[in-house]
Amino acid sequence: MNSAIPPMLYRRLGRTGLEVSAISLGSWATFGECVDDDTTAAVLDLAYARGVNLFDCAETYARGAAEAALGRAFRRLGWPRETFLVSGKVFWGVHGRRPNTWGLSRKHVFEGCDATLRRLGLDYLDLFFCHRYDENVPLVETVRAMSDLVRQGKILHWGTSEWSTFQIREACRIARADGFVPPQVEQVQYNFLTRDKVEGEMRELKADVGIGLAVWSPLAYGLFAGRYDDGEPQNGRLDLRKYAWLREAALGSEEADVLQRVRAVNALAREIGTTPSRMALAWVLRNPDVDTAITGASSPNQLRDTLGALAIVERIDDGLSQRIEVALGRTGGAPERSNAIRELAAPPDVLQQ
Ligand SMILES: NC(=O)c1ccc[n+]([C@@H]2O[C@H](COP(=O)([O-])OP(=O)(O)OC[C@H]3O[C@@H](n4cnc5c(N)ncnc54)[C@H](OP(=O)(O)O)[C@@H]3O)[C@@H](O)[C@H]2O)c1
Repeated sequence: MNSAIPPMLYRRLGRTGLEVSAISLGSWATFGECVDDDTTAAVLDLAYARGVNLFDCAETYARGAAEAALGRAFRRLGWPRETFLVSGKVFWGVHGRRPNTWGLSRKHVFEGCDATLRRLGLDYLDLFFCHRYDENVPLVETVRAMSDLVRQGKILHWGTSEWSTFQIREACRIARADGFVPPQVEQVQYNFLTRDKVEGEMRELKADVGIGLAVWSPLAYGLFAGRYDDGEPQNGRLDLRKYAWLREAALGSEEADVLQRVRAVNALAREIGTTPSRMALAWVLRNPDVDTAITGASSPNQLRDTLGALAIVERIDDGLSQRIEVALGRTGGAPERSNAIRELAAPPDVLQQ
């Protein structure tokens, strides 16, 4: 494998003024739980050196421990705050399902933001996402709370994650009508298995209201990194007992069939002389609607491999895309089989994504 890493590309995040690296780095199921502090710092150091400028986290990741680990790494690495972006997400909290400790009430949004800033050791977040939609809280309360955080300078922009386009449009409408700051970015899953929302309704929304798109799990949790290609998966997060729910969401009851298709796609990547993670990420980045793809890495070597995607984005032409569709068994416009988004909306005590 060629270890040379091409220069980073930067894209404007929706209609914000932010320039964001096309590849950004997340901290779910890695920092603060599966990866120690030295490795965390090494992964971040490599990312930053290669131009990654957005680091994504959430209060729920390892129940706050991921934010704390990121905070320790930021202090250790000592980067000027002006040179990187940090995003947080509020919804599930860190105290389980007690009244007021989770969701999108003004109380939890304010307290969640303060706790996140404390754990990260930062004065402000560049982006703050509502991690899911809260059916129990009036939308106007959430929009007002997020808007107030912007005005207080605790966050620079706010966004949504896995909200329907109807919910996002409603939030924009309320903001316009009442003079609040509107959401500007949606964080949504996008990979070979889960793609219909990004390629369908989000596209229209992006054209209409200019919403930015930060997409997550471009490698489908490592499936398209070849992580699970050799017989039974080993040591990846899908093998961990605590992530049994994720394995179910990612592979469902047709596990053998999905893995067979995943392996066919990964074999195609090797056949064209690249690595699975590079082809998977390049396929995501070839979509001009994607402002940034948030990947994960549990070692510098993984990230080094994945960053090579930048060099092959142009190779994802119609011919290769068609071969990928065949390997995925998606010819004839078959809909995606993944139910990951629905599954990921499971209750907080089940879920730590
Ligand atoms: N908004 C949301 O609801 C939401 C939900 C999920 C994720 N996210 C964000 O998106 C980020 C990325 O999600 P993700 O971690 O699922 O992304 P991903 O890029 O699909 O998967 C990353 C994982 O794939 C494996 N991997 C990566 N490169 C590899 C390589 N070169 N060779 C072998 N294995 C490799 C590693 O698995 P192992 O760690 O098992 O080694 C790594 O942690 C998260 O950290 C989080 O910030 C947001």
